[in-house]
Amino acid sequence: MIPYKHEPLTDFTNEENRRAYEQGFEVVKEYLGQEVPLIIGGERIYTDEKMENFNPSNREEIIGYVSKATQEHAEKAMQVAQETFKTWRKVKPEVRADVLFRAAAIARRRKFELSALLSKEAGKPWPEADADVAEGIDFLEYYGRQMVAMKDGVPIAQRPGEDNRFNYIPLGVGVVISPWNFAFAIMAGTAVAAAVTGNTVLLKPASNTSVIAYKFVELMEQAGLPAGVINFVPGSSRDIGDYLVDHPKTRFVSFTGSRNVGVRIFERAAKVQEGQIWLKRVIAEMGGKDTIVVDNDADLELAAQSIVKSAFGFSGQKCSACSRAVIVGDVYDQVLDRVTELTKELTVGDPEDYNNFMGPVIDKASYDKILEYVEIGKKEGRLVLGGTGDDSKGYFVNPTIFADVDPEARIMQEEIFGPVVAFTKAKDFDEAIDIANNTDYGLTGAVISNNRFHLEKAREDFHVGNLYFNRGCTAAVVGYQPFGGFNMSGTDSKAGGPDYLALHMQAKTVSEMH
Ligand code: NAD
Ligand code: ALA
Repeated sequence: MIPYKHEPLTDFTNEENRRAYEQGFEVVKEYLGQEVPLIIGGERIYTDEKMENFNPSNREEIIGYVSKATQEHAEKAMQVAQETFKTWRKVKPEVRADVLFRAAAIARRRKFELSALLSKEAGKPWPEADADVAEGIDFLEYYGRQMVAMKDGVPIAQRPGEDNRFNYIPLGVGVVISPWNFAFAIMAGTAVAAAVTGNTVLLKPASNTSVIAYKFVELMEQAGLPAGVINFVPGSSRDIGDYLVDHPKTRFVSFTGSRNVGVRIFERAAKVQEGQIWLKRVIAEMGGKDTIVVDNDADLELAAQSIVKSAFGFSGQKCSACSRAVIVGDVYDQVLDRVTELTKELTVGDPEDYNNFMGPVIDKASYDKILEYVEIGKKEGRLVLGGTGDDSKGYFVNPTIFADVDPEARIMQEEIFGPVVAFTKAKDFDEAIDIANNTDYGLTGAVISNNRFHLEKAREDFHVGNLYFNRGCTAAVVGYQPFGGFNMSGTDSKAGGPDYLALHMQAKTVSEMH
């Protein structure tokens, strides 16, 4: 098997690639507005009640009418998943991995179509959509190889007359609940991590982006995944969220999303239900409030470029997005001015047009929430740029910069999940790190510095799951920068890392006397 290597990002300066993306839009346009079923045990189920998924750039454009699972569907899916677990858990790990490798090959061939669908359904600009699909392919390739590497277990101590073995076995039925912001990568990655380890899955994707999730489940079927291994149960979290989490046969929950929902799931999953014979495992990857620290001896152009890209890429709708810039001492004005200058050059508009750097935010609730935070920000700091939006057709928010904000201010502490960055000044590097650490979260962070001692201090004291030096704080690559945060950012797991699959399994020791 060739060693794992990440999927390259598409070079859109190449005209041929731009044409291919346009063709991707043409493919997607042929199925816009289609009815999307649930898939339970391979059976397509169309419900009467449907979710109307629209393009966040243009509410009039319907991406799909998505069937809504009820509790009865969730129960049926649970029974199918339990039944399928009896056979799937016995399928050899390398055979399960082969399904992932084939799925990666199919996704690679359909990359432009899948990316174009993300541009339509999630409002992703081309490079962001391309990176999302590439990351999904990476998860398939990486977890497939990880499973093969783990198939014979881990060597343990031996002594004469005894044979000791230590192997990982699957857990059971997992509920996978995914967010809309990496609607392909995270949805696919969390679902296949659960499946390749021998578990069966109930996949509940984010409502806003259920069409891309359906395309992925179809793709897994094409790749040879047996019916019933991944069951597709989109729907309203109000209808089936608690039901899936509380179910006594749910063995584990793999959740990625907001802090509030993550905490709710963590608490509910802890309650042992009647008929439940295990303690549920919860993998929760939650929000962030991520900081870039700029030292006073840093490359200031690199600092400004890193802040702009990390704050405004995908309109700041990444758990990893930079929403706080902490600048040491007398370079504060210079960095702020350069960030403002660069931000003025950014274009905002429908991501169907390649020239738009930023697209819309995901929906009205997000739009309203971001603009509410802008009003809060006006009381907490100095509005330097932006603060405006346009919801006449879609949900567009302009990139927004606040300066001179107190580190304890709400816009410095709460996840906004939009294109808003707040600046604060620190008197020295030690204070900058204290400020960087003063939130409930601990997901990503970056330090721009040329001072080796300061970088080493940050390595030890900047308490985040993903810390970057002399670059931005987004865009972790599977296998290279395993991803996941500390504190209220989650359960300290690392997606795309060497120990991630083990979270979906339990270790069994067998000792035989000779
Ligand atoms: P969300 O919490 O609103 O929804 C996430 C998923 O949970 C969706 O599928 C949703 O339908 C479901 N859900 C909602 N309520 C539920 C309930 N009571 N029971 C069960 N499921 C329920 O989050 P979102 O808006 O989709 O995503 C944005 C959030 O995700 C941000 O906070 C972001 O930081 C976070 N995120 C974290 C990571 C990470 O790796 N740490 C990655 C991406 C996104
Ligand atoms: N993995 C994504 C990033 O690093 C969230 O930006």
